[in-house]
Amino acid sequence: MSRSAHPAGPRHADVLPEGHYTAPPADLNELEPRVWPQTTARAATGAVSVGGIDVRELAEEFGTPVYVLDEADFRARCRAWRDAFGPGADVFYAGKAFLSRAVVRWLNEEGLNLDVCSGGELATALAGGMPAERIALHGNNKSSAEIRQAIQVGVGRIVLDSFQEIVRVAHIADQLGKRQPVQIRITVGVEAHTHEFIATAHEDQKFGLSLSDGHAAEAVRRVLKLDSLELIGIHSHIGSQIFDTSGFEVAAHRVVGLLADVRDEHGVELPEIDLGGGLGIAYTPEDDPREPHQIATSLAEIVSRECRGAGLSVPRLSVEPGRAVVGPSAFTLYEVGTVKELPGLRTYVSVDGGMSDNIRTALYDAEYSVSLVSRASEARPMLSRVVGKHCESGDIVVRDSFLPADVAPGDLLAVPATGAYCRSMASNYNHVPRPPVVAVRDGEARVIVRRETEEDLLRLDVG
Ligand code: LLP
Repeated sequence: MSRSAHPAGPRHADVLPEGHYTAPPADLNELEPRVWPQTTARAATGAVSVGGIDVRELAEEFGTPVYVLDEADFRARCRAWRDAFGPGADVFYAGKAFLSRAVVRWLNEEGLNLDVCSGGELATALAGGMPAERIALHGNNKSSAEIRQAIQVGVGRIVLDSFQEIVRVAHIADQLGKRQPVQIRITVGVEAHTHEFIATAHEDQKFGLSLSDGHAAEAVRRVLKLDSLELIGIHSHIGSQIFDTSGFEVAAHRVVGLLADVRDEHGVELPEIDLGGGLGIAYTPEDDPREPHQIATSLAEIVSRECRGAGLSVPRLSVEPGRAVVGPSAFTLYEVGTVKELPGLRTYVSVDGGMSDNIRTALYDAEYSVSLVSRASEARPMLSRVVGKHCESGDIVVRDSFLPADVAPGDLLAVPATGAYCRSMASNYNHVPRPPVVAVRDGEARVIVRRETEEDLLRLDVG
């Protein structure tokens, strides 16, 4: 983990309580490139800009809090993934990380496919113009309506998650007179997270058909018997925020093992495997994720080695990164409202958002960094906890981070790496309207998801 006991002395802060936090950077004004969108820079004025626009202008025009998405950064990451895997493989962006019509257009233009996991995501994908054949539908409990819609529009694949779903999808495809390409999601007994993976006992989860109890092989048997389903491959997804490919190695070994069994039993070589998403990003400067080309090279190597070993021809590989595409492309811009100092403990800096726009800190104990972005400051580093405006003490945005000691109401703070799973998991807790998403590029800013209003909230309240 990136937290470490604090090694610095009084040079950095007057009083440092017990706790786990990283050392303050030598210069609080410096923006660590790993966690900021690539066009972010601190100007001579001291204020930060992104996409060529001063954050103070963004706050003025769009209000705070606001998610600021760097389109150039997003597109560059799409291209990096696309180029790393090359024409012989497919990259499906996982829309659950963040989805909007503009993002779908960018994905389409940059040659990525799209993984959706609900009717709402499918509708957004189609509204954004993603060709249906480049869409994959996931989910452990897809409704019949979602399945029907997906088959009707002609999605490229439905990833089957249970025995009941095999029957359900086959029946609906039959009714519609279609033969639907499907993959089977299997659980391979591997759970990976950050630097560790555990290769036993992780079949205790709701997703997929287990390899070890024979359900995966049985699912293949059942699907192969159904005329309305075309089995194109096997799918596996092993975890989140993974920095190390050893978990994928075990997963690929087991998936390829199943392909070999299928060949032996049915005389069929399935043409595709999907190894899912889960590739990690830097949330704080201490995190050091691998680049797409490193991941692509090792996954391709692992898969071809395993296939060679099993005497199989190498199937077409696909992956489903969500976080690693959009996570680093955005930051959340907040305005400071109050500052409460607790001498000897820490300082609570309250911003105008919180757990409704970023639940990840409260939910997963996720780590983030934060910077003062509306001006530079030479004040000493002050151990801070950035909290929101919600009526709950767990409403923490950044648990432990250093801010300049002169941080004050009216200052703008930005929390980087909030592109994934922040807007998509945002809520209206305390009837707080959700912030907009503003895309910036080449000196221009435009709203791609507008701010909710109190009217929006009241519109649903029909009682
Ligand atoms: N494919 C499948 C089948 C998945 O279930 C997921 C994520 C992905 C791809 C994309 O994973 P990514 O590359 O974005 O890690 N709300 C949590 C993350 C939940 C991820 C669930 N599935 C968070 O905020 O960290």
